[in-house]
Amino acid sequence: MSLPDGWNPEELARAKRLAASVRSGVDARVLAVRAPGRVNLIGEHTDYSGLPVLPVAIDRSTIVVAAANATGEIELANADPVWPPRRFAIEQQIPPYQTGDWANYVKAAVQAVIDRFSTRINWRGASMAVDSSVPIAAGLSSSSALTVSTAMAFMAVNELELDPLEAATMVARSEWYVGTRGGGMDQAASILGRRDHALFIEFEPLRVRGIKMPANAALVVADSREVADKSGKVRAEYNRRVIECALAARILGRALKLDDVKILGDVVRAQPGWNAVDLVEKLAASSPARLDPDLKEAANILGVSQSALDMELLGHGPSRIALDPKRPLEILKRARHVFNETQRVIRAADVLETGRLDEMGKLMNASHASLADDFECSTDRLDTIVECARRGGALGARLTGAASAARSSRYATWQALTR
Ligand code: GLA
Repeated sequence: MSLPDGWNPEELARAKRLAASVRSGVDARVLAVRAPGRVNLIGEHTDYSGLPVLPVAIDRSTIVVAAANATGEIELANADPVWPPRRFAIEQQIPPYQTGDWANYVKAAVQAVIDRFSTRINWRGASMAVDSSVPIAAGLSSSSALTVSTAMAFMAVNELELDPLEAATMVARSEWYVGTRGGGMDQAASILGRRDHALFIEFEPLRVRGIKMPANAALVVADSREVADKSGKVRAEYNRRVIECALAARILGRALKLDDVKILGDVVRAQPGWNAVDLVEKLAASSPARLDPDLKEAANILGVSQSALDMELLGHGPSRIALDPKRPLEILKRARHVFNETQRVIRAADVLETGRLDEMGKLMNASHASLADDFECSTDRLDTIVECARRGGALGARLTGAASAARSSRYATWQALTR
């Protein structure tokens, strides 16, 4: 039997094992979906500013096997006993489980499909069984692999289809449901990943260009064994940085007399020929480097009311972002990282395409330094691993994935080597 596109024999075997645990209630059809994790080569903490990234889908994946049922519910089983079975009703607005529950990512996926096909009324439920080989909380996007695979399975059970770009756009913000204000990199990498290719991904609107990995390059992913649990402490750190970048964008937008700037990407798109140094200088001339977390100073600079700014940036209700009142918001450093990183990503796409691996390594090293110094999201252990990789002959090494300055966080690191 030939393998479906993108599948390997081990994944097919996992799908067959899972098939035994789903109950088909409506018809005899059982379907299987795979969604890979990703490692990001460069372009860290740029996606939620609408700026480009350069990830690679990896050979670890989440497999979901699903069959339609007539109960109007999603029944979930997970091959890993750490994640207990769950069952929830399909509603227009699905209430989340408690923070940290694994099935919230599935609820996020189902909610994203319901929102996308909002005129549909009769939803088929599904029995779904999940098996993932993507390491959890390790910066390789296990959460998106789960969200993407269950969204696709739920759509298939309901006989819905989207082209891959539309599907990636649909799930890009699904993790907002669990309270993380992420960008769309992980979901796009999982859906649009291509064998032996890195993906140059741009946002607003989503566009993807595959870049063939040079045959003499090897990627090594090393796990630092620190934990980056995005439904826990890391989430607060992550969301804080989203707010810091959004504030920097608004201040710059006002200083440059641009309309309707919400994210740093809006500034870049409105300034063809932009460069990081000029934009950072302009920001420094328009705002203190740090602002109070109560947003009063920021509101004054922007000429808006503090309460309106608070509501717009932090939201309300259970998904409201809570900012530590004792820590100032870093505006200048964060924007400096994002602009410099964006220049590196654009360069990296070119360098990779033309096989200049030495240069690629240098860009990765510069990315790590900027994440450590300006974005303040590395850890001592990560810095050490990265250093060891370089001393061991890697052309470049950097942390990858979600981030948090919380010193208890975990990232995978990676290095590039020539063979
Ligand atoms: C997480 C998020 C992504 C991206 C990275 C950091 O993986 O899910 O959207 O922001 O962190 O680059």
